[in-house]
Amino acid sequence: MHDPLMATYKRLPVTFVRGEGAWLWDTNGRRYLDALSGIAVCGLGHAHPAVHEALCEQAGLLIHTSNLYQIAEQQALGESLTAYSGMDRVFFSNSGAEANEAAIKLARLFAHRRGVKEPAILVMDGSFHGRTLATLSATGNRKVQAGFEPLVQGFVRVPYDDIAAVETAAANRHNIAAILVEPIQGEGGINIPAADYLPRLRTLCDTHGWLLMLDEIQTGMARTGLPFAHQHSGIQPDVMTLAKGLANGVPIGACLARGPAGDVFAPGNHGSTFGGNPLACRAARTVIETLEREGLAGRAAGMGELLLEGFRRRLEGQRGVVEVRGRGLMLGIELDRPCADLVQRALTKGLLINVTADRVIRLLPPLILDEAQAQLLLDGVASLVGDFLAEGGNQRH
Ligand SMILES: Cc1ncc(COP(=O)(O)O)c(C=O)c1O
Repeated sequence: MHDPLMATYKRLPVTFVRGEGAWLWDTNGRRYLDALSGIAVCGLGHAHPAVHEALCEQAGLLIHTSNLYQIAEQQALGESLTAYSGMDRVFFSNSGAEANEAAIKLARLFAHRRGVKEPAILVMDGSFHGRTLATLSATGNRKVQAGFEPLVQGFVRVPYDDIAAVETAAANRHNIAAILVEPIQGEGGINIPAADYLPRLRTLCDTHGWLLMLDEIQTGMARTGLPFAHQHSGIQPDVMTLAKGLANGVPIGACLARGPAGDVFAPGNHGSTFGGNPLACRAARTVIETLEREGLAGRAAGMGELLLEGFRRRLEGQRGVVEVRGRGLMLGIELDRPCADLVQRALTKGLLINVTADRVIRLLPPLILDEAQAQLLLDGVASLVGDFLAEGGNQRH
């Protein structure tokens, strides 16, 4: 049968038609517990009444004008997002990759203005920053890059969570403008760096006059139990990118900056037709209000602890389980073998999970997950993993 859609995704054989909170229903009326939230997007769950109401009202007023005019909703979101994040200024895009593109352009312009002719950005092995040419070139995964050469130049790659490698790069190169790094690597396998990693990167950036640019596209918006993952380390970035959870499913991205980095772009340097339109901004403003009103960062921290502790108790020490790790509602269970099959098996049991980096079960449930749902998730995943390992699933490799 002719498929009108390009084959960019290998999709699971299920179609969802409705959602409510942490639940989704398929075309047959079957219910699923969503432990992925559209990959860290629907933090408030599906069909949240506040988002529903705000979107309906905004759609009846104004969806789009243009960045050629003042946009009151964009201004209002700019104010609430800078207050929420402690950053100074923001550029709005439509996706995470575009937010990172803005950050990359900002870093290059920042460096050129300081006389660096061919600026480079330090990026990490195992990172993921998007699928546009610049962001896939920044990404530390050959699979994402293969076939799209020539890659965009100007990225220097070092291992993640390795300060010595950054120090060596600093000693050998005089054209570094910025570090672009995820506070926790999401696609890379829920990799959590040492507690002093970000503070030491901050110090190195201060010493060398580099920008510290944090990709919080997956970790941001309360996912890890604080509004932003870097807040666990008590540092502040110069640039931070957001998307995913920012508007609970309405496409939006944001490149935030602080201090001099906030003043780099001038009219004509960057832009976007849709970026920051009234509908997306109204949704994002509602998300921030709701996160704060419902105390969802604290809830993610508490529910995350419960899940982490539960998975550790049930799985750690089992043969085949390498590690259970996570922060807030960003959890990973690393096995010693490829386990992508678990996604289909979980689906059959009415559970939506994900596997990344081949061997890591990734859980990103909505921040509104309640205790009963957390218990279901715990029981469901622990028994799936137990059965899979007992059968010798995919063997060890
Ligand atoms: C850390 C990180 N950066 C960037 C992106 C790209 O975002 P988008 O798919 O919205 O372009 C993702 C998406 O998974 C991500 O996890």
